[in-house]
Parts: sequence; structure tokens; C-alpha cells
Amino acid sequence: MPDNLAAAAARLAAGELVAFPTETVYGLGADAANPNAVAKIFAAKGRPADHPVIVHIANANALGDWARDIPESARKVATAFWPGPLTIILEKAERVSPSVTGGQDSVGLRCPLHPMAQALLNAFAKTGSGAIAAPSANKFGHVSPTTAQHVRDEFGPDLMILDGGACDVGIESTILDLSRGTPVLLRPGAITREQLAEALGEMPRSRDDEAPRASGTLAAHYAPRTPLELTGEGALELRVRELAAAGKRVAVLARGPGRASAASHWQSAPENSTAYAHDLYAHLRSLDTSGADVILVEAPPPDVAWEAVNDRLTRAAQGSGESDEP
Ligand code: TXA
Ligand code: MG
Repeated sequence: MPDNLAAAAARLAAGELVAFPTETVYGLGADAANPNAVAKIFAAKGRPADHPVIVHIANANALGDWARDIPESARKVATAFWPGPLTIILEKAERVSPSVTGGQDSVGLRCPLHPMAQALLNAFAKTGSGAIAAPSANKFGHVSPTTAQHVRDEFGPDLMILDGGACDVGIESTILDLSRGTPVLLRPGAITREQLAEALGEMPRSRDDEAPRASGTLAAHYAPRTPLELTGEGALELRVRELAAAGKRVAVLARGPGRASAASHWQSAPENSTAYAHDLYAHLRSLDTSGADVILVEAPPPDVAWEAVNDRLTRAAQGSGESDEP
């Protein structure tokens, strides 16, 4: 086992925090079986205590350690999509601390695909509980990190960070609630609603107001500090000129190649939704530090393929321009 993995597992066992890569975004991890360690996540992030964190496990065999009354539907999606970018919400086992669940009686479980996350979980199984509670490794409400440098930018040099390169997926996992009978999609992600329907034999419903609290489902989230505005297709150039005429420096996130523009910064994003998601948070971070007064994002089409990206962009627009703690 590489030294840094052994050291990271030892830190987790000692009740300390470790940031680590997953295929979606970087996580800020603590021993899921140690409430004092989990409390450090909330302190570091500035996250309200009633927001639950996801428990990461090495494989579906560990489901029974953390959840009870596991429905057949959970086995189906775990078989189809684990390891991978899917979190499932189940009724929590007795042992799961309220610090993990935010006081709810359900727990979010995910088995990540990233080889370094897998290696860390397996190393930690030898020295500790083998389960890592981890939200995204960013300050509460801010843009999730997709590189080790992003994590360093959020938390500074003292945090131990395992560097696994840029995350493949780039946006957070799909969250599927299976704790309440019918499957409910709480957060869209790389595993699409259609893929879930195929594995489940029924289309998951959208969340309603009774859904459990999920910070990733707050209207304002995933947000840069610079005000962010979405513009419809075709309206981008006009809006850039309006803002520029009003003396604003405008940073643009456009779909497709660069065009002549009055914008002070121009970022071309991929035209394909998977590639767009991969780059999205790195783009938002660099536009956020470009010195612009406004970030203007050319909205993708309202197609199913763009559901997860459109979800993040809408929340980013609603939470933008605020301080670290919306
Ligand atoms: O891709 C991901 O899911 C990343 C990586 C690190 O695994 N994690 C992540 O964690 O995005 P976080 O905490 O930033 O977002 C997880 C979401 C939160 O909105 C949280 O409220 C929700 O999952 N969640 C966790 N447990 C839950 C539960 N029991 N019921 C409802 N929502 C839950
Ligand atoms: Mg998050």
C-alpha cells in the first residue's frame, strides 16, 4: 500500500479529516462511526448540523451495516450502478449516529468508483470502520471541488488531501431516495432518471416538499461568489453588450466556440453534456476569480441529457453573489 494511503487511513482512524478524490467531486472525509470526527466536517465546512452527510462504503456487502429493511430496489440499483456516481437513501441502521444523518432516520450510502477512493476505503477497513462520511470538500454552499488544488483553495495547506487528478464526472452523484416506498430522485446526476427507471422497472418520481433535507437540493447552492446570470440561447450577445454598456466586466461561459464579444473573459464550454459537466466547476471557479462583475452563462437546452447540468446552473445562479454561508 502506498505510504500516503496508509497515512490517510491512519488519520481517519485517529478521528481526523482527509480529503480524497471520487469520480464525481472531491470529498471531505471522516470516520462515519466516530461522531466527534464527523463533527469536524461540519465545523470545517460551516455546514448546518441538520444537513446529513453521505456514508461511503467499499461495496454493497456493507449496506447491511449502515441500513436496515433494505428493499429489493436498493439491491437492483447497487448491482447496476455500484461502484459509481449513485447515492441511495435508505432507513438507517441503529448504529448510525445522528451527526451523520442530521437527525433523520434515513442514511445516504454510496460506493465510489475512483480507484483512490476504493483504495482508501479498503485501507481504512483494516484500521477502522471502513466507512467514510464525506460531503463535497467545499465550504457550505460553494462550488464543489474537482481537483486537489480546488480543495486546497477552500481549506488551505493544513488539510491532508489525496491527489487523484481531475474528477471524471465533475458534478455530484445522483441521489435516489428508496426509504419511502416509491423511488424519488432527490438530485439528478450522471446516472440519469432513465437509467434508474431501467434498473428499477419504474420511473423515479421527482422530489416534493416532504422530501428529507438535502443541502444539495436547496434552491441556492453550488454557487460562485460573483453574481451569475443564465441567458437563453441567442440572447447572450445582447446581454453582454447591455452589461458592458453599463460599465460591467462580464465573464462568459458559452456553449461552443468563441465569438467576437464585448465580454472581458470568454470561456467556451463543450457542446456535449457529459464533457460540459466534467469541466463545469473548474470553469465556474476560474470565471469567479477573473475579476468580472457578472458571470453570464449561456443556458443549455432543457433536454433530459442536460437535467443534472441545468439543475446545478439554476442553483448556482440563485446562490451566487453571496458570502460563504448563504
Ligand atoms: O458525489 C457526491 O455525492 C459527493 C462525493 C464526495 O461523494 N458528495 C456530495 O456530498 O455531494 P454533499 O454532502 O455535498 O451532498 C450530499 C447530499 C446533501 O445534499 C445531503 O443533504 C444529501 O446528500 N443527503 C445525505 N444523506 C441524506 C439523507 N439521509 N436524506 C436525504 N439527503 C441526504
Ligand atoms: Mg456539497
